[in-house]
Amino acid sequence: MKIVSVVGARPNFMKIAPLKRAIDEFNSKDHSLFEHILVHTGQHYDENMSKVFFEDLELPEPDYYLGVGGGSHAEQTARIILAFEKILLKEIPDIVVVVGDVNSTMACSITAVKMGIKVAHVEAGLRSFDRTMPEEINRIITDSISDILFVSEPSGILNLNNEGIPADKVAFVGNIMIDSLIYYLNKNKNSSLLDRFKLKGNSYCLVTLHRPSNVDNKESIEKIINFLNDLSSKIKIFFPVHPRTYNNFIKYSLLNNLKDEIILSEPLGYLDFISALKEAKFVLTDSGGIQEESTFLGIPCITLRNTTERPVTVEVGSNYLAGENVEKAFEYAENILAGNYKNGKIPELWDGNTAQRIVNVLYEKLVRSL
Ligand code: UD1
Repeated sequence: MKIVSVVGARPNFMKIAPLKRAIDEFNSKDHSLFEHILVHTGQHYDENMSKVFFEDLELPEPDYYLGVGGGSHAEQTARIILAFEKILLKEIPDIVVVVGDVNSTMACSITAVKMGIKVAHVEAGLRSFDRTMPEEINRIITDSISDILFVSEPSGILNLNNEGIPADKVAFVGNIMIDSLIYYLNKNKNSSLLDRFKLKGNSYCLVTLHRPSNVDNKESIEKIINFLNDLSSKIKIFFPVHPRTYNNFIKYSLLNNLKDEIILSEPLGYLDFISALKEAKFVLTDSGGIQEESTFLGIPCITLRNTTERPVTVEVGSNYLAGENVEKAFEYAENILAGNYKNGKIPELWDGNTAQRIVNVLYEKLVRSL
């Protein structure tokens, strides 16, 4: 059984690493049943957005690197489709596994389905119901053409059912990104991050922002800078800056508007980031994955978005949705600093065994059904 799995952008790497490990484990018990080929589209290409994750997550060099980074959505998507088709023509896999909601996810699933190759989507069914988000379009398209849909939280089952996806295509397996988190927390590889940035545990707010709705136009990014400046009088701020956000700081000449006491850094690798997160007093973010990781760790999270496609993090976990309303976010931050916050609970099946469940389903559906 030949599996081609796809990574493209930063949030994909920690979802494919556990799958690779689970396939290797399965093979060691069952005579190398699966052949696994890893394709990196190159959507993210900077050393600290990609290479460091391969090292931290012990991923092997990809079998194919498509080098399609940068450009508009149309350019990126089109280049991925053209390059990925060539790989599929050569490899003729039994199934393509895509993860998450980035442009690479959608582009590779379309390519495979058009060639009559099955697609499995890991992290299916999440919906923000906000079609201005590029990821929402990627999710809807990928789910609508996938053959196996692996769901991470209960809302996913409901959403797919409402969209008429047959229940026998859907498997609730839990959150594969949490597999990576548990694995590396247990390995306890200590990162020197706190020392390097002179940070003390439980005494700083970790900030990550990169959504186009927050950082692409001058007015919103200025509003956020003012908010961070205000917040920095209450708590130390540590802000690893995503390339999109950094490019916009430069484009609008705003980098110098951030107060000096805000600690900026380049984007962090995986091990550094989980250290920064687990030691933070709270996190302020617009990322999807960080809402989930903070929920698992019980760290309060303030999300600067109007919607979340991961409602379990608000309903069960430690996440607060502030919208794009910085006053609301400030209020949440003050409450957290005063000790008023929810610790939340760990959602169902976020237990470190999601990748194993996925491989078992692939085995049942691809091998046993033959
Ligand atoms: C992408 C995903 C988003 C995910 C995010 C995580 C889509 C639609 N969006 O957004 O869901 O949360 O990744 O980071 O797929 N750039 C660099 N170096 C890099 C990567 C990007 O300079 O290594 C620059 C690009 O050239 C571009 C900008 O950053 O100008 C945005 O990159 P892009 O891949 O288009 O989307 P992200 O904002 O990173």
